[in-house]
Amino acid sequence: RVTPVILAGGSGTRLWPLSRKSYPKQFVPLLGEDTLFRSVVRRLSGDGEGYGFARPVVLTNATFRFIVAEQLAQEGVDAEAIMIEPSVRNTAPAILAAALHLIAHDPEAVMLVAPSDQVVPDADAFRAAVSRGLGAARAGDLVTFGIAPTRPETGYGYLQVVAKPDGSGEPIKLARFVEKPNAERAGEMLARGDHLWNAGIFLFAAKDLVAAFEAHAPDVLAAVVPAVEQAEGDLGFLRLAPESWGRAPDISIDYAIMERAGNLSVVPYDSGWSDLGGWDAVWSHAGPDGDGVTVSGGATAIDCSDTLLRSDSEGMELVGIGLSNIIAVAMNDAVLIADKSRAQDVKLAVEALKAKG
Ligand code: GDD
Ligand code: MG
Repeated sequence: RVTPVILAGGSGTRLWPLSRKSYPKQFVPLLGEDTLFRSVVRRLSGDGEGYGFARPVVLTNATFRFIVAEQLAQEGVDAEAIMIEPSVRNTAPAILAAALHLIAHDPEAVMLVAPSDQVVPDADAFRAAVSRGLGAARAGDLVTFGIAPTRPETGYGYLQVVAKPDGSGEPIKLARFVEKPNAERAGEMLARGDHLWNAGIFLFAAKDLVAAFEAHAPDVLAAVVPAVEQAEGDLGFLRLAPESWGRAPDISIDYAIMERAGNLSVVPYDSGWSDLGGWDAVWSHAGPDGDGVTVSGGATAIDCSDTLLRSDSEGMELVGIGLSNIIAVAMNDAVLIADKSRAQDVKLAVEALKAKG
């Protein structure tokens, strides 16, 4: 069996004002009625070819725990554990905590780590890709999932493959992993043609991950082991021990492990994947019309091009006339109007508002 480990602790500030500190993007109906969190829970349940998914472990924080519990219940899923991080330490400590928790029950546990902020439309194709990666994971590799890159994106990790994907989707060994390169390096890697984007989804035996932390990030291990050992049950949640947890470095799995480990491979994946990291991604995912216009909720576009208009406020009409390259999102208590080329800077809005108090 494969245990899904779902990361649901991020705050998603680039999708403000829909995504809020107390109710971030993975839990809101971003595209239609569904939430990204519920869709990943569904995708990682049931059986794949030659394996079945066990009950998921969800990692989140105290603020989101009841939302997590509610959305799991809506999917009829009973979690193996909802682990609460007492402070924000990024993904490396969180994933390690899940691995240690699983090993305590099953030393051979295999885990599939997935973010909760992505769109993966073809669940069957994804489950088949997991099945192809299992052999490499059981042989001791840390398995990544790779997307053919289309632009010199600087917000992703890059996977250099030792041989070009042959279309079979079988795992390929990695020569190296480069997290979030600068624009120049990203352009070089795109031009070489031997790199894939890291989808941010990982498959490995829990014990191999722990061994990787022993080798490459012992400081993280030293803090997280006691935090898991002293974790306390709390209303059906498992709360990591705050003091030890607080000593863990704030670092992502990509920097702590993937850039340093040698035993990496990738399952190439080409059945659709999108990281809804910002409003520009939502605009393109929602399938703009011939003029590049995406409207949703109570929004109307007149003579607009390359524009996203969205009103999530009941009864509020949002009308754009003659706009091009604009993102406008209206909520009950906040409106964003931005140049579409500045979509990644929306996090600045959150910072500016925080500074105002
Ligand atoms: N539980 C928990 N705790 N979850 C977290 C935390 C945390 O402290 N920080 C982030 N997450 C969750 C986010 O909600 C998201 O679902 C996932 O972990 C990944 O974090 P991001 O912050 O979104 O990472 P990223 O997008 O910058 O980069 C990663 O994903 C890219 C693909 O989307 C990297 O793995 C890149 O290499 C990759 O290309
Ligand atoms: Mg992300």
